Amino acid sequence: MAEWLKSGWRNKPRIQMPDYLDGDALKAVEAQLSSYPPLVFAGEARSLKAKLGAAARGEAFLLQGGDCAESFEQFSADGIRDTFKVMLQMAMVLTYGAKVPVVKVGRMAGQFAKPRSAPTEVVDGVELPSYRGDIINELDFTSAARIPDPAKMLQAYTQAAATLNLLRAFSTGGYADVNQVHAWTLGFTEGEKAAKYRDLANRISDTLDFMRAAGVNNESTDSLKTVDFYTSHESLLLEYEEALTRLDSTSGNWLAGSGHMLWIGDRTRQPDGAHVEFLRGVQNPIGLKCGPTTTAEDLKILLEKLNPENESGRLTLIARFGAGSVGEHLPRLIKTVQEEGANVLWTCDPMHGNTIKSATGYKTRPFDSVLREVREFFGVHKAEGTVPGGVHFEMTGQDVTECTGGVRAVTEEDLSDRYHTACDPRLNASQSLELAFLVAEELSALRQERHAKAV
Ligand code: PEP
Ligand code: CO
Repeated sequence: MAEWLKSGWRNKPRIQMPDYLDGDALKAVEAQLSSYPPLVFAGEARSLKAKLGAAARGEAFLLQGGDCAESFEQFSADGIRDTFKVMLQMAMVLTYGAKVPVVKVGRMAGQFAKPRSAPTEVVDGVELPSYRGDIINELDFTSAARIPDPAKMLQAYTQAAATLNLLRAFSTGGYADVNQVHAWTLGFTEGEKAAKYRDLANRISDTLDFMRAAGVNNESTDSLKTVDFYTSHESLLLEYEEALTRLDSTSGNWLAGSGHMLWIGDRTRQPDGAHVEFLRGVQNPIGLKCGPTTTAEDLKILLEKLNPENESGRLTLIARFGAGSVGEHLPRLIKTVQEEGANVLWTCDPMHGNTIKSATGYKTRPFDSVLREVREFFGVHKAEGTVPGGVHFEMTGQDVTECTGGVRAVTEEDLSDRYHTACDPRLNASQSLELAFLVAEELSALRQERHAKAV
């Protein structure tokens, strides 16, 4: 690998990052963060990498999800618990469909900085800098609120540490017990409209009953009451990322200590840009968003730069083309990956290509488009003989009304009821679980087909 410094990104073109007005204040914050403990450890990042490698081979499946943007104001134990709970429910349904372990990665404990489509925003003739996430500035539409403040990085660090602490407690403290997780899911399938999911839920119940009868229970098996849960976020605010980067003494490699998995957004993946430069040198598993504008030429350079050793589990390509466009773009990028002989994990983000403005003025995503993109993603991989290895959602455990549709249908008129996102619209708890049932069906069909071919 070409020589790398954790500050090397500073010599590259940077976009989507704030210009802090007070350079001394920024330096003081960076010095403070650099003296704090990292939030995650190298061994954890390595174990996640191994699991993602398994997902790339079809021996595991990645479920990545959480807020579009974590918020300081909405930070609460209940919020974290509810998102964690829905992810466990989704994971259980997916495990049943795929019959392989589901790797659970939250968009949590660090998902604060946001790329924006425009540098400024105009409301009623007033133009102000765009909101860039709570780690940078504030959502309120006043000029004071929109000034980037480096001290917000310290608050983000504290919130991320507290979030991770609670997630670690939930993962091992009895909350993740399979029987309990399934009992919650049965509640969802009781509704009349969710009848179509009841059959799968009942089959999971039967399996759990069988395991209990056979003596496989949570007293005898730790793995039934604990889970591995990892954190991830978009690596956008590079001052924050650099300050939390540490040398891992075991391997002699650098680790971004802000989260287990970091990804590069669709807007900051320039092969010669600052974000690619930073991420190429840390040993964490990393994600790369691929959109309709991703070219084969760029992807080739990025595969080489981001994974020069062609390590399995190192690079996840997160496809986000939009429903109706997967067939046009995914096959050409799969071809590039194959030509390069690159090891990658393909996952589907059916959120970011399906954002529309509702007639009532809200940014929303129709559940049907989200589902359609997932189906198209599976369809292309089936046709190409490649592995659809995971899904990436913006979701919350709260009962919000941000995306339209689902069995407990949210209409365009409902959007104003509980529209709480600080950025993009998220699936609510019921829509998330419903999506998991639908993805489980796809996975189950895929598995049966493979099985039939093998026999
Ligand atoms: C996101 O994941 O919140 C995001 C901004 O996605 P993308 O970079 O794919 O647009
Ligand atoms: Co988003």
